[in-house]
Amino acid sequence: MKIACIGAGYVGGPTMAMVALKCPDIEVVVVDINEERIKAWNSDKLPIYEPGLLEVVQEARGRNLFFSTDTKKHVGEADIIFVSVNTPTKTHGIGAGKAADLTYWEGAARLIASVSTSSKIVVEKSTVPVKTAEAIGKVLRRNCQDPNVNFEILSNPEFLAEGTAIEDLKHPDRVLIGGADTESGQKAIRTLAEVYAHWIPRERILTANLWSAELAKLTANAFLAQRISSINAISALCEATGADVSQVAHAIGTDSRIGPKFLNASVGFGGSCFQKDILNLCYVCETVGLKEVADYWYQVVSMNDYQKQRFVERVIGAMFNTVSQKKIAIYGFAFKKDTGDTRETPAIDVCKGLIRDGAKCCIYDPEVTPEQIFRDLSAPKFEWDRPNYSRSQSHMLENVQVQSDPIAAAEGAHAICVLTEWDEFKKYDFAALYEKMVKPAFIFDGRNILDHAKLRDIGFIVYALGKPLDQFLQKNYS
Ligand code: NAI
Repeated sequence: MKIACIGAGYVGGPTMAMVALKCPDIEVVVVDINEERIKAWNSDKLPIYEPGLLEVVQEARGRNLFFSTDTKKHVGEADIIFVSVNTPTKTHGIGAGKAADLTYWEGAARLIASVSTSSKIVVEKSTVPVKTAEAIGKVLRRNCQDPNVNFEILSNPEFLAEGTAIEDLKHPDRVLIGGADTESGQKAIRTLAEVYAHWIPRERILTANLWSAELAKLTANAFLAQRISSINAISALCEATGADVSQVAHAIGTDSRIGPKFLNASVGFGGSCFQKDILNLCYVCETVGLKEVADYWYQVVSMNDYQKQRFVERVIGAMFNTVSQKKIAIYGFAFKKDTGDTRETPAIDVCKGLIRDGAKCCIYDPEVTPEQIFRDLSAPKFEWDRPNYSRSQSHMLENVQVQSDPIAAAEGAHAICVLTEWDEFKKYDFAALYEKMVKPAFIFDGRNILDHAKLRDIGFIVYALGKPLDQFLQKNYS
């Protein structure tokens, strides 16, 4: 059996590496139009950072795992084709700002149709709006010259989380495969299930109809994001009342009906999927006339925007209502720890908010490159989800500096804002940092990872998200 995957990104690369690792009897080729990306996958400096990924790639690469730009050849030869291309939010036209732009998906489907001389199973790995399989089926069937070629479309959404992708792929909670309720559809489901059964217990391989599988992915992300927005909403109330959001989260998380996960209040959720998928879900609801349902889910995104804005206002308010010309050290730019991914990271909106008020942001992140940071801070909204984005020009910005040394980033700064929960931040010598900063020295912990009592003992004015406010901060707000 031969598998091809179109799209060598955060999903295509790691998922296919795991399939190849666990299925030595299957040849797996990941193809992409981005030559640099493919080159990087063939090197030991992979294009994405993910703990454990390099080891998996090194074990399978050259054995039964290959990365190539020869899309036509490998797609033409494959029995199963995963499609894992970008599905960005539309930036113009009907549905701009919410609907999914299926340009890249349709392009992939046209390519599959044009090179297919044998029947194929086409697997939706990208997150797509519900009913996409129907549209893709039409494109495939109308564009393939050979009437004997049959395309069976499956939905197999990816539930991995960046930062823990390898663990998630090795031991997934479940794998979901949706297919048509026909004999050939069910056969295709069984074929794909056999692949996963190489390492995943059968009871964790769930099957469904196509539309349920497509909708389950959007729903899963909407629910996860909703939990974050819910606890973030409560964090604002905690600050106003003297309650502590960690204590509230712990208390509710011990209820087995609620559970403890995804209850960490923070400066906001980020990542390539949550906002995009919720907006997409809302758009689908609107197009079928369910305005109230759409409005309900929009609120999850609005709350996230509010939380980022609230954080910026806290910083500015605490610093005597002016950050003009003040150096602010930003610790962490990635949207979460253990990844170099900055897509929709809350750090973008927070930095932009501070810069708008005249602050000079000095950014340190252990995994994100200066080019990426400058690109993210100057790009228009949703631009990051285009295949060419990582190659687009990166412009220096007047009030932004990127530092490779966290100590230098804090030197002469009025404040440190912790925006990503990198473990290394907990180990810093804050007493030494304090000495190098302008007084009063502020720390705004947007992830609640630092030892706040210790920081206060050193002399810092500490803002901890969702926690009772320092006396010093209260005065500024009354
Ligand atoms: P990505 O941007 O990292 O990778 C997409 C890749 O597809 C790019 O390298 C691009 O060059 C390539 N591509 C686009 N059109 C192509 C074409 N016609 N032929 C060959 N290559 C093409 O995106 P990522 O994060 O891997 O996401 C892919 C899909 O998976 C999206 O729909 C996303 O919503 C979904 N997803 C992402 C998750 C994540 O954690 N990043 C998790 C679950 C789903």
